[in-house]
Amino acid sequence: MSIALIVLAAGMGTRMNSDLPKVLHELAGAPLVVHAMKSGEALSPEKIVVVTGNGADAVEKAVTKWNPDAQVALQAEQNGTGHAVMQARAALEGFTGDAIVLYGDTPFIQPETLEKMLYARRTHDVVVLGFEVPDTSVRYGRLVTTGDDLSAIVEFKDATEAQRQITLCNSGVICADAGLLFSLLDDVTNDNAAGEYYLTDIVALARQRGMNATVVRCDETETLGVNTRAELARAEQMYQARARLAAMEDGVTLHAPDTVIFAHDTVIGRDAIIEPQVVFGPGVTIETGARIRAFSHLEGCHVSRGATVGPFARLRPGAELAEDVHIGNFVEIKNATIDEGAKVNHLTYIGDAEIGKKTNIGAGTITCNYDGVFKHRTTIGANVFIGSNTMLVAPVKVGNFAMTATGTIVTRDVPSGDMAVGRAKQENKAGFADRFFEKLEAKKASQSKESK
Ligand code: UD1
Ligand code: CA
Repeated sequence: MSIALIVLAAGMGTRMNSDLPKVLHELAGAPLVVHAMKSGEALSPEKIVVVTGNGADAVEKAVTKWNPDAQVALQAEQNGTGHAVMQARAALEGFTGDAIVLYGDTPFIQPETLEKMLYARRTHDVVVLGFEVPDTSVRYGRLVTTGDDLSAIVEFKDATEAQRQITLCNSGVICADAGLLFSLLDDVTNDNAAGEYYLTDIVALARQRGMNATVVRCDETETLGVNTRAELARAEQMYQARARLAAMEDGVTLHAPDTVIFAHDTVIGRDAIIEPQVVFGPGVTIETGARIRAFSHLEGCHVSRGATVGPFARLRPGAELAEDVHIGNFVEIKNATIDEGAKVNHLTYIGDAEIGKKTNIGAGTITCNYDGVFKHRTTIGANVFIGSNTMLVAPVKVGNFAMTATGTIVTRDVPSGDMAVGRAKQENKAGFADRFFEKLEAKKASQSKESK
């Protein structure tokens, strides 16, 4: 069975009080709309159509950056969820199979829940995802059911007092044959309290055509939508709590789980150890047995087995650490490959570089990679000893088994086995310090006599 996802993401998000479209606000380092896409992508859909409206260009950019195969359909005016789904019709021309409608501001829908809906589709024409609420004051659409047989969805605004007492609510996620969905939407009118085309009306319309509909239930937390900054913060908290638990269940040690921040795509291997106050930005893979020490910040990087990072280290995009590499305190690595067993232990910047096996980078070393316009590469071989406070002015190469003397500014390549020294020669002036301070102390003494 082919599947098409239709993700509604045209809404204003007025209550975010933001210039950024709501669905582009980030949760665990990814826009909300990407979370919705990820939920549905787990089903390997043949088509993905995101309906854009407010901030359409920016939303399109984020959507196609995440998934170049995704299409967007513009909903120029937001006339309701039914109207929004209709905008996807052209993009799904010729598609046969099931359509699943998701909301771009609802990031927690689990793939397993969508699987359940597809399973229910085997016996029902329309399947709606519903959830029970403890309190009937909520303004969600209500699911009118007899057992699991769904006869209609009534919007809160349009509901009778009796219908408002129903505790089974509409999440917004709907699944039906794509052809049927659009055919039912053709019959939807905007004759209701909001003056909008309700997607939810398709249930009663399907029943009128003699078709059946049912509800699949999920937990309320799964359908949580983000409308305000406070809800975004709460969603982030929920996301982090789950990510921490999931990591620990996967065999990762977290010394202080509440202080570790995960991204939506963080991958950590079994028996890795993550110390307190570690932040993972997007695109991080930590292999088994690696240790990330306290107060480190990592994004877009790969840490291999047995490597240690930090405390107080920063790995930026393109940092590739091989097995047993040591990265120590106040070290920044960007777009650089550090080969097996190499050590970069103190106060160092390595950018746009390659460092060979077992090479030791001394404290305070800097790859001077930027000339103000262009970036240049530094290539350091295996078993090299880079002395403390070496400046490597890129582009530059240091051969295997070479060394640099402390304080050297390397501006030319260093052949294998050589040592580069590039610093002013030291001279000792006999007795100078004694004479110098005697003079200064005498001056101070005469000044304080005068001021009395
Ligand atoms: C909708 C459902 C309601 C359900 C609730 C769950 C309808 C008519 N109502 O109500 O039964 O309980 O969600 O949260 O479907 N959107 C567009 N274009 C539009 C309108 C909406 O893209 O023209 C998008 C919004 O950006 C949002 C989603 O669709 O992501 C839902 O729209 P919203 O206006 O929040 O629907 P509700 O009134 O909350
Ligand atoms: Ca809503």
